Amino acid sequence: MGKGSGYGKVILFGEHFVVHGIPGIVSAIDSSTDAIVTKAAKGLNIKDERKTSKGYGEEKRLQQIESIERMLKAMKLDPKTPLDIWIGGSLPGFSGLGASAASSVAIARAINEELNLGLGNDQINAIAYEGEKAYAGNPSGIDNTAATYGGLMWFKKNPAGGQDLVERVRIKRPVEVVIGSTGKTANTKAMVEGVADRRKANPAKYDPLFKQAESLAFAGRKALEVGDLKKVGDLMNENHRILQEIGVSSKELDQLVEIARKQGAFGAKLTGGGGGGCMVALTGGNEVSGKVVGAFKGAGFGYLMTKIGVVTY
Ligand code: PMV
Repeated sequence: MGKGSGYGKVILFGEHFVVHGIPGIVSAIDSSTDAIVTKAAKGLNIKDERKTSKGYGEEKRLQQIESIERMLKAMKLDPKTPLDIWIGGSLPGFSGLGASAASSVAIARAINEELNLGLGNDQINAIAYEGEKAYAGNPSGIDNTAATYGGLMWFKKNPAGGQDLVERVRIKRPVEVVIGSTGKTANTKAMVEGVADRRKANPAKYDPLFKQAESLAFAGRKALEVGDLKKVGDLMNENHRILQEIGVSSKELDQLVEIARKQGAFGAKLTGGGGGGCMVALTGGNEVSGKVVGAFKGAGFGYLMTKIGVVTY
């Protein structure tokens, strides 16, 4: 029996833009997906016991099988290797929290252990990136990197396909956030392709927005490092606005963002692929987190109280 885990994540700055080589800031959260893998007599037998939003399992089922086959191939194994795979853990299967990458990392680690492959973190990360392609089409790699290594980081994809730039971002203390879930499963691949298509069709509108996203990431890093939460929140609000402009927000995401700001969050924005999925509110403490959670519950939304910048290494 082999076991493995992968962290969930929230993107604080730069989702979608990171796919195109703009830097982003991501934090692992203290919830993970766990996997147990055992050799089987035949077939790929998946028992997925994660808590998910409605329809998540069905929507992702085929992508999940493709993802595992891709990872087996990347490990130089037969993609039809018979395996029993159990998936569970504390990370809910909400779109936007990197659940697919967390599960890919967990499964890759569990296969590594069960089959004694002797793979290290860098190889697990590269294999999980292959698995992510089944869910995201052309992923930036930010999700699997956060799921593998944990912590808070600055991520810049190398568009030429070489080594990505990954740097630790140091903050004074872990900071409280609340994640709000629309309850709607989103198709990350379709969202990513939509942005790429619209950018191509309308560079005059999109190019300046990409420039703004880049400036926000740099300013966000600086504000996080000096611990200026008010500034971080303002920049997150600004990031949400440009995500609205590139067409990846939704009515429910905007509603959650509004609620969180009204309850005293420093700032709030959608996180991950958008079009449903989740948003993140920077609360900076349990009191505001409690108020935000109460208002989310009252409005019928799902939530997760967690922290960014927890040192896991
Ligand atoms: O929705 P998620 O958790 O899969 O996050 C997707 C993040 C994107 O920036 C939209 C895509 C990517 O590969 O970076």
